[in-house]
Amino acid sequence: MKAITVVPGKADSASLEHFDDPHDSEGPVLVETIAVGICGTDLEIVSGQYGWAPPGHERLVLGHESIGRVVEAPGGSGFAAGDYVVGIVRRPDPVPCYNCAAGEWDFCRNGQYTEHGIKSLDGFMRERYRAEPDALVKVDARLGDLGVLLEPTSVVAKAWEQAEKVGNRATWDPKVAVVTGAGPIGLLAAMIGVQKGLEVHVFDQVEEGLKPDLVGELGARYHTGPIEDSAKDADVIIECTGVPSLVFDAIEHVGSGGVVCLTGVSPTGRALSIDAGLVNRSMVLTNEGVVGSVNANRRHYEAAADALATASRDWLAKLVTRKVPIEDFAGAFERKPDDVKVVLQVASD
Ligand code: BGC
Repeated sequence: MKAITVVPGKADSASLEHFDDPHDSEGPVLVETIAVGICGTDLEIVSGQYGWAPPGHERLVLGHESIGRVVEAPGGSGFAAGDYVVGIVRRPDPVPCYNCAAGEWDFCRNGQYTEHGIKSLDGFMRERYRAEPDALVKVDARLGDLGVLLEPTSVVAKAWEQAEKVGNRATWDPKVAVVTGAGPIGLLAAMIGVQKGLEVHVFDQVEEGLKPDLVGELGARYHTGPIEDSAKDADVIIECTGVPSLVFDAIEHVGSGGVVCLTGVSPTGRALSIDAGLVNRSMVLTNEGVVGSVNANRRHYEAAADALATASRDWLAKLVTRKVPIEDFAGAFERKPDDVKVVLQVASD
């Protein structure tokens, strides 16, 4: 079968390969992949900056944001042929640490977790894969191939949960949220903020085009200037860029008792000059909470499925700006100015 693989650590090694059919030992549920979304992590892997092949292998099958269709599943597994499913990205470590043992692999303590398409487990950019039933999440058939947005939505569902857990340290009645970045993660974070009834402000650099339109259609407000000009004193900031200066802007300008949730993975090695005393002072004197958030467990996938089911299907469809056939994979790894979510089409829906 066809698969897109890379040699982790080696730039531009992505290629379309013939790959063996999945082995029964991978699990009893056989899934045909329909599409796989591409995110910044994939681009980092393709450029040789991130990623690990499975033990004993040179190449890693790429792809962690998937939507597929069940081909066969054993009775009693909870799945049947034709079901739309998403594969959960992270699997618990083998020890397991106490978080992984509790199903909280997103909080793995020993770093021995594995991630499909990222860390030591083949991903979903292949025509078929097998999985254990507990590694799959069923998606509403009405969503169809837009279920490819479930994994990134699970990441922001977790981020919102984390922000709320911190906010609820004291009586908390949030009204205003800021989201930095209008890429897929930022837009999906804004979508959940609007669904929560918050006044949502999204900050990005582009002045016009699809991103401002998508924010407007959500009922949120779009800004290009500094946070303090349009939305200082927000109750929550979900930082979705990983741009170091924006991280500190968010910490400086969130409101009293507010929470900043950081979701962006920053580049390293670039120093930034900051007034650390001011940052500390602002955090302490206003009980500010800053929390990092990565990955998602089953609870977050389920919350994400509810959020996508509530959202406008038309709006979600506009997030997918390009669908690239698997044979033309190289084009899927190029960033174009109007891209929001680029998807690799593995099979027709
Ligand atoms: C994925 C997460 C993963 C993280 C770190 C993100 O792109 O969506 O599931 O945990 O990368 O590898």
